[in-house]
Amino acid sequence: MERILVTGGTGYIGSHTIIELYKKGYEIDVMDNLFNSKITVLDKIEEIAGKKPNFYELDLLDFEGMDKLFSENKYDLVVHFAGLKAVGESVEKPLKYYENNVGGTINLLKCMKRHRVKKIIFSSSATVYGEQPTPKLDETMPTGMGITNPYGETKHVIEEILKDVAESDPEFQVVILRYFNPVGNHPSGLLGEDPNDIPNNLMPIIMKVSRGEIKELNVYGDDYPTPDGSGVRDYIHVVDLAKGHVAAIDKMEPGVLIYNLGSGKGTSVFEMIAAFEEASGKKLPYKVVGRRAGDLAEIYADPSKAKKELGWKTELTVEDAMRDTMCYLNNL
Ligand code: NAD
Ligand code: UFG
Repeated sequence: MERILVTGGTGYIGSHTIIELYKKGYEIDVMDNLFNSKITVLDKIEEIAGKKPNFYELDLLDFEGMDKLFSENKYDLVVHFAGLKAVGESVEKPLKYYENNVGGTINLLKCMKRHRVKKIIFSSSATVYGEQPTPKLDETMPTGMGITNPYGETKHVIEEILKDVAESDPEFQVVILRYFNPVGNHPSGLLGEDPNDIPNNLMPIIMKVSRGEIKELNVYGDDYPTPDGSGVRDYIHVVDLAKGHVAAIDKMEPGVLIYNLGSGKGTSVFEMIAAFEEASGKKLPYKVVGRRAGDLAEIYADPSKAKKELGWKTELTVEDAMRDTMCYLNNL
């Protein structure tokens, strides 16, 4: 059976994806520097999947360490999640983001080339579309224009690097997955989004507000041209997202394939608050503040390419995500 190296595998999306990969029988090694995740995640994976990945505490920027990892292990495929993702911090510390995300990916690709590993799946983001004339985003749209932060730029640059590497080697196989907004967690409540840093995404903040760790949610704007004035995004249950990776592996072929992973449905911030209140049975304190710099009013995926070519579509809803989030919170 194929052996996969999962970079960033103790993180939020990586850990959920490992559960789905184990269901298909893959062997898995994880490398992570534990900057934004905890080693205990591996025990939770074992509890759910009955198997525990080999773990290497390693930084993508440590070329020698990475090279040694590839020398000692034969991988068929890399699923590359590792990266920094805090949009606000990337504006303050752009070099840290370019170095970690772009520099780290270059190290990884150099090791893959050296050790003849020819397949990679990359965690990209809807952010690469920048601002478009319509809120519904599809893979034929141009990317790289109007990206409002260095984090987003790193995703765009890495996509371009991957295309160039594939161009230079006819055997190289790349799948770029453009995630929309991942939410929720494994239904067991054992795994979840548990960032070490201060979150700036909606769902982890809602979770912290509900636990009393943050006083109230700031709603960034209620004057957007959307039905209720708040921002609209395409929230995708992380288990659906994880399954998208499994479908992508089955489809891999020489060259570059690009897919949106989203539900195709937009949900507003106020609708997210209402869904959380419904699942938790209590009010969520919030106040409306000004718009956040760089935010778009409304975006959602056109997921039809992934449906047609991967046979993948979302099966879970925002309500499922909220229920599973409550299960996770109640376990903490
Ligand atoms: P996460 O922070 O939970 O996981 C990323 C993991 O990478 C962490 O465990 C972190 O410790 C590790 N890491 C970071 N830099 C590293 C380095 N230099 N060497 C080794 N390990 C390193 O984030 P996530 O939400 O699971 O995101 C996974 C990927 O998906 C990221 O590339 C992210 O940019 C991308 N993505 C996430 C979202 C989202 O909203 N969560 C949306 C679009 C794309
Ligand atoms: N929001 C609030 N209050 C908060 C946090 C967020 O009102 O405290 C709102 C935002 O204004 C936005 C929505 O909730 O309307 C979602 O915001 P997130 O920060 O959770 O997500 P974004 O859509 O801004 O960004 C996410 C990922 C990025 C990725 C992008 C792709 O965080 O990594 O989706 O669209 F690039």
